[in-house]
Amino acid sequence: MSKQMSHLDNNPSTPGKFKMEKSAYAHNRLRWHSSLAKLTFWSFMFMGMILIFFFRSPSSNPLPQDPSRRSLRTYNWGGPAWEKRVRSSARIRSRHGISVLVTGAAGFVGTHVSAALKRRGDGVLGLDNFNDYYDPSLKRARQAFLERSGVFIVEGDINDSALLRKLFEVVAFTHVMHLAAQAGVRYAMENPGSYVHSNIAGFVSLLEICKSANPQPAIVWASSSSVYGLNSKVPFSEKDRTDQPASLYAATKKAGEEIAHTYNHIYGLSLTGLRFFTVYGPWGRPDMAYFFFTRDILKGKSIPIFEAANHGTVARDFTYIDDIVKGCLGALDTSEKSTGSGGKKKGAAQLRVYNLGNTWPVPVSDLVSILERLLKVNAKRKVMKLPRNGDVPFTHANISLAKRELGYKPTTDLQSGLKKFVRWYLSYYSGGKKAAG
Ligand SMILES: NC(=O)c1ccc[n+]([C@@H]2O[C@H](COP(=O)([O-])OP(=O)(O)OC[C@H]3O[C@@H](n4cnc5c(N)ncnc54)[C@H](O)[C@@H]3O)[C@@H](O)[C@H]2O)c1
Ligand SMILES: *[C@@H]1O[C@H](CO)[C@@H](O)[C@H](O)[C@H]1NC(C)=O
Ligand SMILES: *[C@@H]1O[C@H](CO)[C@@H](O)[C@H](O)[C@H]1NC(C)=O
Repeated sequence: MSKQMSHLDNNPSTPGKFKMEKSAYAHNRLRWHSSLAKLTFWSFMFMGMILIFFFRSPSSNPLPQDPSRRSLRTYNWGGPAWEKRVRSSARIRSRHGISVLVTGAAGFVGTHVSAALKRRGDGVLGLDNFNDYYDPSLKRARQAFLERSGVFIVEGDINDSALLRKLFEVVAFTHVMHLAAQAGVRYAMENPGSYVHSNIAGFVSLLEICKSANPQPAIVWASSSSVYGLNSKVPFSEKDRTDQPASLYAATKKAGEEIAHTYNHIYGLSLTGLRFFTVYGPWGRPDMAYFFFTRDILKGKSIPIFEAANHGTVARDFTYIDDIVKGCLGALDTSEKSTGSGGKKKGAAQLRVYNLGNTWPVPVSDLVSILERLLKVNAKRKVMKLPRNGDVPFTHANISLAKRELGYKPTTDLQSGLKKFVRWYLSYYSGGKKAAG
């Protein structure tokens, strides 16, 4: 399957994108300096804009950030029009609404959570760096979908502290839904640094800003069922051991949980970790089996079915996206306030971790049979040994804690969920990209 993946992930992740935008910037600069008259003209325009901004903006610090930093910046953000969009997207429109910064909003889960929050009247601002770990045009299509419901996604990186600080200056977020991450287990062979960049450094930058914000927001973040690693006691309960990660991805998610504990303990941040179990559905991720199986079955390409040692079954506790969204909203709604202020802890704060799964592991061969029926095409199966590069043979969630404390109750079985996925897939890839929703 690593071969399968290599053509999907043939682009470098985040760094490639940075270079692209930098050269565009340099090109612009050359043109700018081409004429002195133009320069003088633009200087006047710039001064004028600053003056207009100064008199119209209610913000206490209307001037742009330190210009020496500005030249280092790789994304275009800032300015009064941008701030206006940020404010409007984050504005609460219902009585007891919350205002949420959703990181990874152009991602699979982020898109669905953002749309659900917006629908019920909460303020939502997205943040995403649109990296090309998988086809960025899918992220752009999700962005367009969210835009139509009034959610603005700021284009930037969670490891960009200046940007995060600015966002908290403009909006007093009550909550952060942190979903930005380097996902997937096999990509670590190609780009291990991306896991460190997003799942560790980026998470720390985000927590640093949250810790210093006044008031501090409550944070709900995505961990993963992969922290259970090679744990063989099933079903997986929150108290089970998580000290045997089977991939770099799992190791960075596990580290994320410990970092979260630390910020909770030292700074009084309210933190809730959600361990997702194989989420699937419309707008899903092309690097996941149900997605590329669908594509390859339709193409008549053979698909690898893994088996564990001694012909053991590989099974997953597949969880439908709408169920996951309800779990995320349940976690946000039951979050208590952070207790710190001015970067200092004032009392004990909430710290929680929940499994969000479906409690119904399905063998991957059954997944393929369901897809065959829905697509009305026979799959060419190729049985292979599970490689030792990150995948675990079995996942099964114990969700009694989330049931009790978040009111979480998954209601979609794999058959019905895949039916919705396939309907979306066919409509999205048949050229009706705009209409798919
Ligand atoms: N989908 C699943 O089955 C599953 C299972 C377990 C855990 N999770 C976790 O849930 C979260 C969401 O997963 P998803 O399936 O939506 O993945 P996704 O890749 O579709 O979404 C993640 C988004 O974050 C963005 N991003 C990555 N690094 C960033 C950075 N440094 N700055 C800004 N944006 C960045 C990406 O561009 C992407 O749009 C992730 O933390 C993932 O690890 C997902
Ligand atoms: C994250 O940002 C910090 C400074 O803000 C920088 O020093 C560091 O190199 C960045 N880390 C990664 C992995 O990109
Ligand atoms: C599920 O988790 C709960 C704790 O949240 C625990 O009390 C229970 O024993 C677990 N059930 C099983 C079958 O492991």
